Amino acid sequence: MAGSVAFTPVSRALRAAIIEHFEARGEDLDNDKGLRTLDTNSSLAPHRADLLVHTFLARSGHSTLENVRIADFGCGFGSLALVLAARGAQVIGIDPNAERMHVGASIARDFGLDARFFPGTFADADLGPESIDLALVNNSLCYVVSRSDRLTALRGIHETLVPGGWAVLRNPSQSHPKDPFTGWPLVHRLPPRVCNRVLAVGGVHRSDVRLTTPRAALRELRRTRFIDVRFDGSGGPRRARDRLAGYHHVSGRKPLHG
Ligand SMILES: C[S@@+](CC[C@H](N)C(=O)[O-])C[C@H]1O[C@@H](n2cnc3c(N)ncnc32)[C@H](O)[C@@H]1O
Repeated sequence: MAGSVAFTPVSRALRAAIIEHFEARGEDLDNDKGLRTLDTNSSLAPHRADLLVHTFLARSGHSTLENVRIADFGCGFGSLALVLAARGAQVIGIDPNAERMHVGASIARDFGLDARFFPGTFADADLGPESIDLALVNNSLCYVVSRSDRLTALRGIHETLVPGGWAVLRNPSQSHPKDPFTGWPLVHRLPPRVCNRVLAVGGVHRSDVRLTTPRAALRELRRTRFIDVRFDGSGGPRRARDRLAGYHHVSGRKPLHG
């Protein structure tokens, strides 16, 4: 569906559906983490999408998202996918958590948005080669811990892109002085398994994640044959202090030939 759709009603519907999702599972949302999840996936979703879209529009020469084919890898509830579809893009969301994706799928249906959702991981997403103009990876590649699996994931993304297509990734940063997941200082500079063991001794559980520095994120893109790779700071204009921000933001392009 082409054309823009106002996001405020979609955002309200997302909020209600996410509350329902957690209530149905008997999970409490009435705490800092729960409320952050709610806001992140409703009222804050347009801003989060802007950080990624800004890079794509600035780098690709597109002036809008109208009819741009986007894959959102690790889409979670699908809130970013819905923002993009509301701006006229054709979006596919992929995530291993099928239950969460149902939230996005039902709202896309209710609002007639062109966002489709498929269960899958980076490794088994089967979108077909050269079918996507823009691959978005927001805060999800960090859940792929093995270095070789991360390169496989990026190669898969590369394959789904049309020649000249773009990948934009936003990752929690290893360069920040504190671990973005726990707030503990410096532990995230340790190898992932050691970090989790240290945290466990302190009675803290953290998901299995691998954090990267901006430099390492760029290296991974280059190794998987992306070109024009660039560090775009934490989202806004490029600033030196972005290198130490909690999140970093990198992008690259699939070559037109070869
Ligand atoms: C912090 S959430 C981010 C969700 C979404 N990108 C957003 O910004 O709203 C991380 C997501 O990555 C997904 N994920 C974890 N492992 C993955 C994998 N191997 N392949 C694809 N997605 C994965 C999780 O299921 C989760 O939904």
